Amino acid sequence: MSEGHRAVGQVKEVTSLSNPLVKDIRALALKKFRDQQNAFLAEGLKLVIDALDLGWTIRTLVFAKSGRGNAAVEKVAARTVAAGGLVLEVSEKVLSAITRRDNPQMVVGVFSQRYVPLKDIRPSGQDVWVALDRVRDPGNLGTVIRTADAVGAKGVILVGETTDPFSIETVRATMGSIFAVPVARANAEAFLQWRKGFAGLVAGTHLKGAVDYRAIDYAGRPVLLLMGNEQQGLPDTLAEACDRLVRIPQAGRADSLNLAVATGVMLFEVRRKALELGPENTA
Ligand SMILES: C[S@@+](CC[C@H](N)C(=O)[O-])C[C@H]1O[C@@H](n2cnc3c(N)ncnc32)[C@H](O)[C@@H]1O
Repeated sequence: MSEGHRAVGQVKEVTSLSNPLVKDIRALALKKFRDQQNAFLAEGLKLVIDALDLGWTIRTLVFAKSGRGNAAVEKVAARTVAAGGLVLEVSEKVLSAITRRDNPQMVVGVFSQRYVPLKDIRPSGQDVWVALDRVRDPGNLGTVIRTADAVGAKGVILVGETTDPFSIETVRATMGSIFAVPVARANAEAFLQWRKGFAGLVAGTHLKGAVDYRAIDYAGRPVLLLMGNEQQGLPDTLAEACDRLVRIPQAGRADSLNLAVATGVMLFEVRRKALELGPENTA
């Protein structure tokens, strides 16, 4: 660290994979330890800066030796120290082991996990929320979170047993949107109970949906978009809780769309009018 930055003297140098701090961070590859530590990893300088700007709590900043002297890295290190976090300067070998990649990013952050409680979600106006039933694939979940961010949706609700939004694969697929999009989780019973108080349109997507998804006017009310599990689609209990079941027409031989693709198609339709008005009117 160069003179003039507050992280001076507070950076630990670590080169050994058996260092206990490194062991704890490497353990975050497993959900069990992410849950135990209530933490997760995010890779890349831009992501870490975005996360700090959005008020996420950084516990540890890890950077490669090659980042020494880099002004942006030093600044983020100083912010980490100011926030009460730890800063580790590590060898390439340690960084590769943490990220399980041959060419890791120069910077990795360990952050506290954050879920929004379902009871605190009270959609109003033209809010759009996405609910995913038992989503299994981290790439799908990350892509949905990223797409929800892109259209200005308010957040994503995970229903039932789902893949972990804080796994490294999901976080990678969100491309940073994990820090911008609130995520809630609930079992199906709690979700159905909460849905009873949802004063808006609950649109479920279903291969047997009775309505073409473009035939509905989504504007002027809150919308909850409900998407089914990759293998099984929506179970009857969730399908019956929808105001409308919509279908995206398909040609060709594919029997369905990929979950994240279907969510993208739906979100751009649901948000079409708001996006036509321009970003300043899309809140
Ligand atoms: C891969 S599909 C599920 C396919 C599953 N075999 C089924 O029978 O529903 C995952 C989810 O994406 C949505 N989806 C995919 N293609 C769709 C379409 N053409 N119309 C409406 N929703 C679709 C639905 O929410 C579906 O549950």
